[in-house]
Amino acid sequence: MEILPHDLQEYLDGHCEPEPEWLQTINRETYLKVLKPHMLSGHYQGRVLSFLSKMVQPRRILEIGTFTGYATICLAEGLTENGIIHTIEVNRELEEMLTAHFKLTSVEKKIKLHFGEAVNIVPDLQEDSFDLVFIDADKKNNFNYFELVIDRVRPGGLIIIDNVLWKGKVYGPENDTDTKMIRELNGQISVNKRVEKMILPVRDGLLVIRKK
Ligand SMILES: C[S@@+](CC[C@H](N)C(=O)[O-])C[C@H]1O[C@@H](n2cnc3c(N)ncnc32)[C@H](O)[C@@H]1O
Repeated sequence: MEILPHDLQEYLDGHCEPEPEWLQTINRETYLKVLKPHMLSGHYQGRVLSFLSKMVQPRRILEIGTFTGYATICLAEGLTENGIIHTIEVNRELEEMLTAHFKLTSVEKKIKLHFGEAVNIVPDLQEDSFDLVFIDADKKNNFNYFELVIDRVRPGGLIIIDNVLWKGKVYGPENDTDTKMIRELNGQISVNKRVEKMILPVRDGLLVIRKK
């Protein structure tokens, strides 16, 4: 899923913070035991998410799409002492593995895991506002999720959407349904006056949106 040349990505990996031991374990376990393991954020993107979270110093984070918990843990690294991350996953079969993964870390108590469809769960979350939201679930709902959370993000807060370069297809000639959908999302956000935005060419493309 990398869009950067492999040797450049290796160089970047070698010049950022190392991947913590517990995240190496989660990475390995995911590749051994779960279908579509490449969905996990991984070393470099994980360090970017952790870095952004530490800059925001969030009290409340929302993640849509937990998978095996890799990005949840990276994002939680930036939480304030009383901070909480709500993370939503539709696949209940991941519960046992997620519980084991979160136990490996010092942020376990800061993680609230919800199972179900994100569109149903987000409106029921009892939080006044979020400082950081990471959208990384079913891509067809990306814009719905953006609309669902934008009024609940505090001014200066971030919304980050994953996979917006879609393996480079969004700026190429491809016109399949998924590519068109992601292109449309990027187009809609790029003209939205309520937010500042930029796409970072990290892994498959991170759209970083800052609410004004
Ligand atoms: C790309 S993976 C998330 C990867 C994870 N954020 C990370 O970086 O390590 C997407 C996850 O979203 C979940 N998902 C898909 N549709 C969903 C929905 N409607 N509501 C909640 N979770 C959903 C999938 O089951 C999958 O585990």
